Amino acid sequence: MRKQRQGISQSAREHFNYRIQQTLLSAGVLLRFSSIAGYLSNDGEPSIDSLVQTCYEINRPFYLPVVRKKALAFAQYTLGNELSNNAFNIPEPSTQHTLCARFLSVILIPLVGFDNQGNRLGMGGGYYDRTLNFMLNPASKKKPLLIGIAYSLQKVDTIKPHAWDVPLDAVITEKGLITFSAKAKQLLRL
Ligand SMILES: Nc1ncnc2c1ncn2[C@@H]1O[C@H](COP(=O)(O)OP(=O)(O)OP(=O)(O)O)[C@@H](O)[C@H]1O
Ligand SMILES: [Mg+2]
Repeated sequence: MRKQRQGISQSAREHFNYRIQQTLLSAGVLLRFSSIAGYLSNDGEPSIDSLVQTCYEINRPFYLPVVRKKALAFAQYTLGNELSNNAFNIPEPSTQHTLCARFLSVILIPLVGFDNQGNRLGMGGGYYDRTLNFMLNPASKKKPLLIGIAYSLQKVDTIKPHAWDVPLDAVITEKGLITFSAKAKQLLRL
């Protein structure tokens, strides 16, 4: 799946990235959510850099994941802030000031594979799963909306989830928005 993702041509990639970011905007992500976390693309993941640019222009807080022990915290990032490579050679904000995932309103999450139930296959480190473990507790009140960002070729028939896997509320690909949870159907509209 990762090879296929890396193998997308530059011109197709640019077109797909544009479509994905247009769908993020038209689904109302900037209109409905006050604190948005995303990622800097790596390993052929879709780029959402123009969303980062838009957040910067409209002064909307945007957060990037930073590795803390075996999980992720989120640091506010605006264009031009200092970044330094983490243990996985992925750039992350150098700041000490971070936020816990439960205080974000939406998290845009890269993935390796997804299915039509919202199950997600990551890179195998369990970082997002450990970070979002509180989402599996029905009693936890603050829950960010989880939107997977992917190319449509990353869709597979079925992913058998493990007990620790945290499912997605929705996925956005170059083909559009796919909603899985009632919350996503209510909050995201095209
Ligand atoms: N909540 C958790 N607590 C402890 N260990 C966990 C938890 N979630 C995942 N793990 C560990 O992480 C390992 C990798 O998990 P998994 O294969 O689901 O990763 P992934 O979903 O592909 O990665 P990521 O979450 O970083 O995208 C699992 O074998 C499990 O041991
Ligand atoms: Mg997992």
